[in-house]
Amino acid sequence: MSEVIIKVDDLYKKYRQGGNDLQILKGISFEVKPAERIAIVGLSGSGKSTLLHLLAGLDKPDAGTVTIQGENIQQLVEKELCRLRNQSLGFIYQFHHLLAEFSALENTAMPLLIGGMKKSTAMTEASELLEKVGLGGRLKHRPGQMSGGERQRVAIARALVAKPACVLADEPTGNLDEETAAQVDELMLDLSRQLQTSFIVVTHNLKLAARMDKVFELHNGRLERRPLVASHSDDADAAEMMVRLDSDSAIGATKPSGKGLFNQ
Ligand SMILES: Nc1ncnc2c1ncn2[C@@H]1O[C@H](COP(=O)(O)OP(=O)(O)O)[C@@H](O)[C@H]1O
Ligand SMILES: [Mg+2]
Repeated sequence: MSEVIIKVDDLYKKYRQGGNDLQILKGISFEVKPAERIAIVGLSGSGKSTLLHLLAGLDKPDAGTVTIQGENIQQLVEKELCRLRNQSLGFIYQFHHLLAEFSALENTAMPLLIGGMKKSTAMTEASELLEKVGLGGRLKHRPGQMSGGERQRVAIARALVAKPACVLADEPTGNLDEETAAQVDELMLDLSRQLQTSFIVVTHNLKLAARMDKVFELHNGRLERRPLVASHSDDADAAEMMVRLDSDSAIGATKPSGKGLFNQ
C-alpha cells in the first residue's frame, strides 16, 4: 500500500456566475495517510462539497492535482476513473442516496456487483457488513421501510463494502436528530478503526470533528489546520473534546472566535 492514500496539491477552483468569477478554492494542499481520519469544517458555501467533488474526480480543478493511491486522477479517462472510484473510494452523503427499489442487502452489495464480483459472494459480504452495522435483521427492508438512522447505516455499509482505501463523507449525519447522529458517528469511527479505512468527513458536528485525527477549516478558499484540545475526563459532557479555532476560543465554547466558522 502506498504511504499516502490521497495527495492534494495546490487545488484551485472557481465557478463562473452571472459574468463574475467566484473563486472558491485558492490553493488547497493536504495528504491523507492510511487509516487517517480527517474532518473538514467550514461555513455553508465555503466550498467543502466542491472540494470533495474534486477529490472524487466528479469535477475538474482549474489548477492543481489530486493523486489517489499513486494515480493522478486528472490523467485518467472516465472508465479508469470509474474503476478507481469503485476500488479506492467510498461515499456517504447527507441524504442516503440509496436506491428505493432495492433492499438494504442489494443496496449494500451494489459497489461489489458493479466491480464485477459474483452475486452470491457479493451478497454474503454485504450481509456480513450489514450485520456489523447492526442491521442483520433488516436485510430485506427497502429504504422506505427503514428509519433515517438505519438508512445512513446502510449508506455506511455500502461505502465500506468494497474495502476502499478512503471514504469521503459529506455531512453524513446532517439530516439526523442529535442522538441518532451520535450513534451513526460512533459507528463510522468504530468501523474506520476496525477496517483501517481513511475517512475525510465534512461535518458541522464539532464533537465528531474533535474525535478525528486532524481538523481543517475551509475558510476564504484555504484549508487551515485547527488544533484539537482533548479533555481526559470520563464524564461525557466534560469529556467533550473541543476544536480550537484560535488562541482565545474554541469550537463548542460560547465565545465566538470572530472569524471563520463562528463568524455567522
Ligand atoms: N455548479 C456551480 N456553479 C456556480 N456556483 C456554484 C456551483 N456549485 C457550487 N457553487 C457555489 O460555490 C460555493 C461553494 O459551494 P459548496 O462547495 O457546495 O459549499 P459547501 O459544501 O461548503 O456548503 C457556494 O457559494 C455555491 O453557491
Ligand atoms: Mg456542502
